Amino acid sequence: MSTTPTTTSWDRAAPQYLAEWVPRFLPYHRDLIEELAVSEAQKVLVVSAGPGAEALVAARRVGPHGKVVATDSSPEMVRICGEEARRAGLEITTRVADFGDASGGPWDAIVCAFGLWQIDDARRPEVLAAWRASLAPHGKVGVVTWGPPDPDGPFERLAHVLQELEPAYAPSGRRKFAERELMAKMFEEAGLAMVRCTVIRHPNTFERAEDFVRSLREACTWRRIWEDLGDERINRIAAKFYEGVGGPEAPLSFAPAATLAIAALPGAQVEIAARPSVRAPNLG
Ligand SMILES: C[S@@+](CC[C@H](N)C(=O)[O-])C[C@H]1O[C@@H](n2cnc3c(N)ncnc32)[C@H](O)[C@@H]1O
Repeated sequence: MSTTPTTTSWDRAAPQYLAEWVPRFLPYHRDLIEELAVSEAQKVLVVSAGPGAEALVAARRVGPHGKVVATDSSPEMVRICGEEARRAGLEITTRVADFGDASGGPWDAIVCAFGLWQIDDARRPEVLAAWRASLAPHGKVGVVTWGPPDPDGPFERLAHVLQELEPAYAPSGRRKFAERELMAKMFEEAGLAMVRCTVIRHPNTFERAEDFVRSLREACTWRRIWEDLGDERINRIAAKFYEGVGGPEAPLSFAPAATLAIAALPGAQVEIAARPSVRAPNLG
């Protein structure tokens, strides 16, 4: 398959990601911003914002006296995010930047939706430490990330087939890190104290299993794998996946688990939706 070398797989996935996945992910975004108790006049940084659905939710809450900055490493995602904000009549500053760039703080909230597992394991502590360094004293880091894994979920089933047929492309398996103790440890290693960790689910349906596979490979995380492997090898994976779900025409209905976690500076008094005032524990 031919690709334009100056763009990344996320750039190429961006328009379809907006159309096909954002409506499915929006309920998770809303939960995250709600749980973070983002409120009027606050300053919020949204990293790996993609087309910015969660940034739009945050911008509505902070209102005209607040500030939302949305960043992503994909220029096309950032362009679409700016367009979405303009279309919604919201003021959002957009910037092409790596997750680890938290400049412009201090932030009342730093938000990362479905970006955590995009960060290399070795880099994650350094990225989280950069977020910590840019937080306001009562600021919070809020993440929503896929996992813990549902062994029978379509994402996991497809990942399992990939591992079997294309071991060199073995999926990262990072969903297994979405567990309370491991999330707390991840924050702690960056000098942050976890104040909330909960698993959320929202219904997702695809009319046919083949729509799910097409959408994942064209518009989401499988785009890079598809571009590397090509149609034939991806079709082999898809065929094996269909055997396990009742065929390519079978409808898929599932509610993928995502872990929503919030962390703050150790000892800080912070507000979250679940509790209007909570003191972040001191570390170790
Ligand atoms: C699954 S999408 C999530 C987008 C958005 N937050 C949402 O929930 O709809 C993952 C995003 O991470 C971005 N990303 C990947 N590597 C990145 C990096 N090094 N720095 C910043 N963003 C990155 C991708 O461009 C993509 O927009």
